[in-house]
Amino acid sequence: MKFCAEYNISNIGEEVTLNGWVAKVRNLGGVIFIDLRDRSGIMQLVIRPTSPFYDLASTIHNEYVISIKGKIVQRESVNKNIPTGEIEVEVSNLLLLNKSLEIPFAITDDTTALEDTRLKYRYLDIRRSKITNNLVLRHKIMMVTRNYFDSLGFIEVETPMLCKSTPEGARDYLVPSRVSRGKFYALPQSPQIFKQLLMVGGIMRYFQITKCFRDEDLRADRQPEFTQIDMEMSFVTEDEVMDVTEKLIAKIFKEIKGVDIKLPLIKMKWDDAINTYGSDKPDLRFDLPIKDITNIFINTNIEFMKNTMVNAIVVNDKASEFSRKEIDKLTEFVKTYKASGLVFLKMDRELTGSIAKLLSEDEKENLIKELDLKENDLVFIVSGKKNIVKSSLGALRVKLGHDLNLIKDNDYKLLWIVDFPSFEWSEEEKRFMAMHHPFTAPKDEDIDKLITDKKHCYSKAYDIVINGYEAGGGSIRIHDELVQEKMFQALELTDEQIRNKFGFFVDALKYGTPPHGGLAIGLDRLTMILSKTDNIRDVIAFPKTASASDLMSEAPNTVDDAQLKELGIKISE
Ligand code: AMO
Repeated sequence: MKFCAEYNISNIGEEVTLNGWVAKVRNLGGVIFIDLRDRSGIMQLVIRPTSPFYDLASTIHNEYVISIKGKIVQRESVNKNIPTGEIEVEVSNLLLLNKSLEIPFAITDDTTALEDTRLKYRYLDIRRSKITNNLVLRHKIMMVTRNYFDSLGFIEVETPMLCKSTPEGARDYLVPSRVSRGKFYALPQSPQIFKQLLMVGGIMRYFQITKCFRDEDLRADRQPEFTQIDMEMSFVTEDEVMDVTEKLIAKIFKEIKGVDIKLPLIKMKWDDAINTYGSDKPDLRFDLPIKDITNIFINTNIEFMKNTMVNAIVVNDKASEFSRKEIDKLTEFVKTYKASGLVFLKMDRELTGSIAKLLSEDEKENLIKELDLKENDLVFIVSGKKNIVKSSLGALRVKLGHDLNLIKDNDYKLLWIVDFPSFEWSEEEKRFMAMHHPFTAPKDEDIDKLITDKKHCYSKAYDIVINGYEAGGGSIRIHDELVQEKMFQALELTDEQIRNKFGFFVDALKYGTPPHGGLAIGLDRLTMILSKTDNIRDVIAFPKTASASDLMSEAPNTVDDAQLKELGIKISE
């Protein structure tokens, strides 16, 4: 049996059976028209006053479940908006399978219902074609992925959900053990350690589409429970892992969207991405590079530009479009990224703007020359510490890209970010932390710097970035026990911590571990990009809210005292 939207004008005269939900009922001059909805779309049904089912049809309301038989005929008035708009079905048999209460919001794509209401009744929300189509898209991505990896000799191996905590950096979700009182499992933040152990186990090429759990602050592209397309390979270089990955991504774009992605993707060094775009996930659909103009202000008299980094973004030919009020709003915006302020300059016949009067003639001349300023150009400047200058201008760049409509529809810009630093400084912990995870191999030439010069130690890690999203990331791993020990040392882990956290893993490295590496793609994020939503919840059947709860089932919830007692757990006030 076919779905509603699988029929078209070529099926005229065919007897069909259709099942679904009533999307709309109209009585026009005695003739009843029903829009029947199933997963695929809508089919118009016609029931005339002479039909033995006319009375039954008259009692039908929205979201009732019906089954019909009938003949496909040509429509008198064509509806160009739907694929079945040229045909309708003359109903010869109608069965009412179930009724529905009045629904809390209309099942339409342009619904104005609040997201909380939609999440409470997610099973109704899923009936909207926008959500249904996203789930279909997600399924297709998984099918292409499984076929692709299978064709290359990868095998899908499941790894445990009840684990010992893996150090991915976020907080763990813990599960108390009843049998071993007082002990806890952690839900996996990713299958990282297990997939590496599969390489030790000789599997050589592994993949898995699997759930990961991270108790971290949620954003529009993050969920506490999300899905990775995870893979790992033995005897490979960084380039080989990137090659396998980008061919998968290109295949997904081609087969599902008909979009050609030109391979190989460009590779950008992490340092360059930060310097030019203020982000390690630059959106390259528009330009607006960040320019370092620190040298112009080396001998400046402007207090807040003295002895510090000064960077600029130039917006060509738009100065007249920005009012003072708009610039004030942008100033508030960069302040949320800890910038102390936002300087602006407009190029008329000469430079005007917030600091124009403070600039020396030399500074003005150099600015015009170095930034190649033309009439009606607008310059935004932030000065201060490097990380604040870069991140605030990086965020401003993205905002301007959107606000100025610089992004073309159906444009996809993919790239690799490579040569990540091995460590990043944590202000909170006052120590260097692993930028990825502690199993990421340093560049061969940097192994000696692990202890002595962490700041200049780079790793064999790579991220794939699509339209400003980090869609995936991975690395070549450390397979040498001695290097792994050095890494743990560099992270200032004590022998006891190493033994306690990774003892079994360190042991495994002693038994003939092959060189290996891999990567994980965020399936939810990839689906978001392909479905053009900026809300990760739109691509997950039963998502969680920003406070990590499920409004439909009301998870998390309290549990019986008896359950707690069995686990030996007391809730403190
Ligand atoms: P990483 O932590 O970079 O790497 O995760 C890989 C990809 O998973 C996606 N992702 C998320 N998606 C939704 N919600 C989240 N909370 C979330 N966190 C991450 C991102 C990200 O690029 N084990 C390593 C991979 C490896 O080294 O092979 C890992 O998990 O798209």
